[in-house]
Amino acid sequence: MDALEPVRAADVADGPPEEAIGRLTAEAVGKTYVEQDRSREVLKDLHLTLEAGRVTVVMGPSGCGKSCLINLLAGYEPPTAGRVVLDGRPTAGPGPDRLAVFQETALFPWLTAFENVAYGPKIRKELKGAQLESAVMELLRLVGLEDFRDKYPAQLSGGMQRRAELVRALANRPKVMLLDEPFRGLDAMTRGLMRDVCLTIFRRHRGSSLFVTSELDEGLALADQLAIFTNRPAKVKKLLDVPFERPRTDQLRSSPAYLALKAEALELLHEEAVKSFKTGAIESADFVEAYGALA
Ligand SMILES: Nc1ncnc2c1ncn2[C@@H]1O[C@H](COP(=O)(O)OP(=O)(O)OP(=O)(O)O)[C@@H](O)[C@H]1O
Ligand SMILES: [Mg+2]
Repeated sequence: MDALEPVRAADVADGPPEEAIGRLTAEAVGKTYVEQDRSREVLKDLHLTLEAGRVTVVMGPSGCGKSCLINLLAGYEPPTAGRVVLDGRPTAGPGPDRLAVFQETALFPWLTAFENVAYGPKIRKELKGAQLESAVMELLRLVGLEDFRDKYPAQLSGGMQRRAELVRALANRPKVMLLDEPFRGLDAMTRGLMRDVCLTIFRRHRGSSLFVTSELDEGLALADQLAIFTNRPAKVKKLLDVPFERPRTDQLRSSPAYLALKAEALELLHEEAVKSFKTGAIESADFVEAYGALA
């Protein structure tokens, strides 16, 4: 695995990334869990490519396997079929080149905001002293947390914790950022602000990004491509190109092209949600039967 380059001030400056790396491909990926004598196929023959410098948003019915895919892409679990390829090389296990940010906070509670963001570059001995200080402060400034550098996670609001987490991920200069509903549970106003923070972060991130959300407007604000998943076993039902300039203004959002894309995405999501609901009902019926047999 390549050594990570240290974070530099230039990485958090405006402008396009100087090199495009972090092309991550799921090739015919499948995942089946076996529990006792029941097997559950969650992903089947899933193909998806995250391009360097581009944001892929994934949407699909609840329980279809989005988080499962993130775990496979991050290398936390192996696929049962197919493979995951990063910049031409098959991956095996997790690595600092692929960073996942989940819904649950992963900040170290015993470290301050500054120390949390500094943690990665510091333990890899990439930066120290004044250089580390200025790189971390630049990241904290990027998300408006410079005045909270010495606060511990418990002293930060939910939205502030998410922002600290996002720049902590960025400080590690990953090739791939995998974000699994990072704003779930935040109020609508904070969510809107976080979306803008994410846009800034994605613009400065040199690699590829995957963002899972259940909010179509949020997805369309962030995406270069929108991958709609089928009901379980999930695969990509349709990959929609989202070619609009950012930021996506109110004017754009009322344009015929945008509205047509949104309507298409809604229709696809609705179809799968209905199927998922029916399957869920069947599974609950199974459960009731099984429970009845036990009682
Ligand atoms: N370790 C595991 N063992 C067995 N089954 C699992 C495991 N992890 C996930 N699953 C199953 O995989 C399916 C997909 O779960 P996953 O969490 O990926 O869905 P999701 O699309 O992220 O849903 P949500 O939108 O609710 O977050 C579920 O049916 C879940 O029960
Ligand atoms: Mg999930």
